[in-house]
Amino acid sequence: MADPKKLFIKTYGCQMNVYDSERMAEAMGAQGYVQTEVLEEADMVLLNTCHIREKASEKLYSDLGRLKPLKAERPGLKVGVAGCVAQAEGEEILKRMPLVDIVVGPQSYHRLPAMVRAEGRVVDTDFPAEDKFEHLPARKALRGPTAFLTVQEGCDKFCAFCVVPYTRGAEVSRPAERLLREARDLVDRGVREITLLGQNVNAYHAGGWTLARLIRELAGIEGLDRIRYTTSHPNDMAEDLIAAHAEVPQLMPYLHLPVQSGSDRILKAMNRKHTADHYLRLVERIRAARPDILLTSDFIVGFPGETEADFEATMALVRQVGYGAAFSFKYSARPGTPAAEKAPVAAEVADERLQALQALITAQQQAAQAAMVGQEVAVLYEKTGRRPGQMVGKSQHLMAVHVEDAAGRIGDLVRARVSASAPNSLAAVRIPD
Ligand code: SAH
Ligand code: SF4
Ligand code: F3S
Repeated sequence: MADPKKLFIKTYGCQMNVYDSERMAEAMGAQGYVQTEVLEEADMVLLNTCHIREKASEKLYSDLGRLKPLKAERPGLKVGVAGCVAQAEGEEILKRMPLVDIVVGPQSYHRLPAMVRAEGRVVDTDFPAEDKFEHLPARKALRGPTAFLTVQEGCDKFCAFCVVPYTRGAEVSRPAERLLREARDLVDRGVREITLLGQNVNAYHAGGWTLARLIRELAGIEGLDRIRYTTSHPNDMAEDLIAAHAEVPQLMPYLHLPVQSGSDRILKAMNRKHTADHYLRLVERIRAARPDILLTSDFIVGFPGETEADFEATMALVRQVGYGAAFSFKYSARPGTPAAEKAPVAAEVADERLQALQALITAQQQAAQAAMVGQEVAVLYEKTGRRPGQMVGKSQHLMAVHVEDAAGRIGDLVRARVSASAPNSLAAVRIPD
């Protein structure tokens, strides 16, 4: 028998792309492709791209440029571009990059095997009526005790800066029964923690199901110890979801709740449809339901029209909330979005603000980690540590923890006492059962 063909996948962008890459690898697996980490031996290279900021998109073109010598050496090499840049630029990619054979948008992944078999160069950026996930093979490749599960895709929010509603299309929720089936199957194969994914995951609604109801039902699956979800929009934090944080022990005390800005003027210009005060009151209600919850967020600095006072309002909001961590980005004008029409803030000003905000967030992250020293945490081991006798996993708050544990195995969920805090992780010692 001939050697199996080899597939090299590179994933950019968000966790939904990570999930999609896994599913595409499985679809190609059914066609006889095995995944490789070695680019030089690949028969097919698939770049699963992100369009969110200019830098992310440009990365695709520099990576494609670097593939040129390989393609020259191996003319049979198939090069595919998937993900949000594929959706946004479609045919343009073929024109600009002669070495690309396949351009496939995020809703058409189930058609990838047929595209690979096709002669010549092909583009598919439809939003087909069928559910791509239903047409992809069942999950196979698992990477340890944690897994992602996409429950909702697309976005109807149209924040003025964001490409996602255009690249991923309208909000669509997957039927609850299918998700429960997929979750049970994951748990049967050793998964103990599932992170539910969606561009707007808390807007999940399917035939009378809300995200809270889905979480309660998932919590009934024997062996599923931890449930998380991301990313949430403040306006979709429904009462039943907040209540789930109080009542469902499997739902981890962690919430990524992007706010983008602390200035009402900028929030309005961003079309976020809530005020800073609304967000702060929401945070209070969530903390009342689950006092030990750790909050994280996303921020954009230098949005068109942002004044010093607007930026100060963002800093004030961050001080008031106290985050466990946060991502902050310099505004990037994206073609086709309403904000891209407006005059930008000077780059030096935006740079300065980004630095100030990042310093504040880093200090808060350090404080949140330092507060864990001496505390007991629950850690799900995902890999072995660099040193023998050390295991690495995540705490209930999604903090990375290195645990001294000579008997630990991947997949164990243990109690440990935190002994020290490093810049991006905690050190801990296993507490015997
Ligand atoms: N659906 C999620 C976010 C998806 S994009 C939500 O609404 O929270 C992830 C983050 O990228 C956003 O929260 C935002 O902070 C950032 N982002 C999106 N568009 C951007 C742009 N044009 N420039 C800079 N950052 C951007
Ligand atoms: Fe983009 Fe806003 Fe939708 Fe998030 S809610 S994906 S930031 S449009
Ligand atoms: Fe990027 Fe698309 Fe995700 S633009 S952040 S890969 S939804």
